[in-house]
Amino acid sequence: EKGGYDYFMLKEIAEQPKAVADTLLGRIDAAGSLTLDELRIPDSVLREVDKVVIVACGTAYHAGMIAKLAIEHWTRIPCETELASEFRYRDPILDQRTLVIAISQSGETMDTLMALRHAREQGAKVLAVCNTNGSTIPRESDAVLYTHAGPEVAVASTKAFLTQLVACYLVALYLGQVRGTKWGDEIRAVVHDLAAIATEVDRVLETMEPVRELARSLADKDTVLFLGRHVGYPVALEGALKLKELAYMHAEGFAAGELKHGPIALIEEDLPVVVVVPSPRGRSVLHDKIVSNIQEIRARGARTIVIAEEGDEAVAPYADHLIRIPVTPTLLQPLVSTVPLQVFACELATARGNEVDQPRNLAKSVTVE
Ligand code: F6R
Repeated sequence: EKGGYDYFMLKEIAEQPKAVADTLLGRIDAAGSLTLDELRIPDSVLREVDKVVIVACGTAYHAGMIAKLAIEHWTRIPCETELASEFRYRDPILDQRTLVIAISQSGETMDTLMALRHAREQGAKVLAVCNTNGSTIPRESDAVLYTHAGPEVAVASTKAFLTQLVACYLVALYLGQVRGTKWGDEIRAVVHDLAAIATEVDRVLETMEPVRELARSLADKDTVLFLGRHVGYPVALEGALKLKELAYMHAEGFAAGELKHGPIALIEEDLPVVVVVPSPRGRSVLHDKIVSNIQEIRARGARTIVIAEEGDEAVAPYADHLIRIPVTPTLLQPLVSTVPLQVFACELATARGNEVDQPRNLAKSVTVE
């Protein structure tokens, strides 16, 4: 049932191109427009939405952090993303014009369920982004957009994360489409690129041997840091979470701009630091700033592991290890930049003799608060 792989996690990482393609299937028409009739929230209601709140836990929360950037950029609707376990207990401001998006692979996470119950009590509309048909979270929501990742068995979430991103992009782009924002041309271009992204994920998977080799060489390290900015920041958090749960290593993700506000004190000789570099195109200011960050940490002895777009030559002189990812639109980059981090964590776990599919102390679905 592991399809020839040693672990479900490896199988599920490999299934990502298909999971991404399946999640897009039937949702983009021949003219390149989105068709999300299955949402069952009338366009008239979506046009009235004046705030989006995303609630989720763990990996799904990281998908939500990225979704926030996409929703605000493409729709200009204010959006906040919050840990479901925090949201419920702080008396959040919600009303009929709030769209709450609850992201959950299992559909059974108690924290997320409690958050959405609270949101509905306040009159908000709740849309579930979920991978499990007929599970509790979609049953209790006003609408659901299913991710089509197929069953995810390994405790550490991989393909579900990529499909959560795809589903959130679809929601963001669809909101932009029905509301007709000034980004119409960009939305059409992104839909076009999204339709081709599964192939890019596949290309990343084909180049992972050096990443595995690197992971094995770091098996006796105690700490790995992860840095990113904009969409790369949640990716850094996700890379760190994967490493904690699988390799049982101390791993932390930081927004690269925060380095000088504290974390740079952690940098010492030979400390591995993974840096997710934004595209040099588009918001190139961010790119330049992160290149300076890489220089700063390297000057202090860090071993830099740099994830950067093909053709980004500016980072090369400062990268002890360079992991290339395909060129994508800025907001879609997490679909390709997360993959090496999954492979990295999985290989480190194996090298450290850990049980990859069943990490200690963890359960696949967390049905208690
Ligand atoms: C991390 C992981 C967890 C889940 C979290 C939410 O690899 O699997 O952090 O993402 O427990 O689970 P769902 O998505 O089922 O609500």
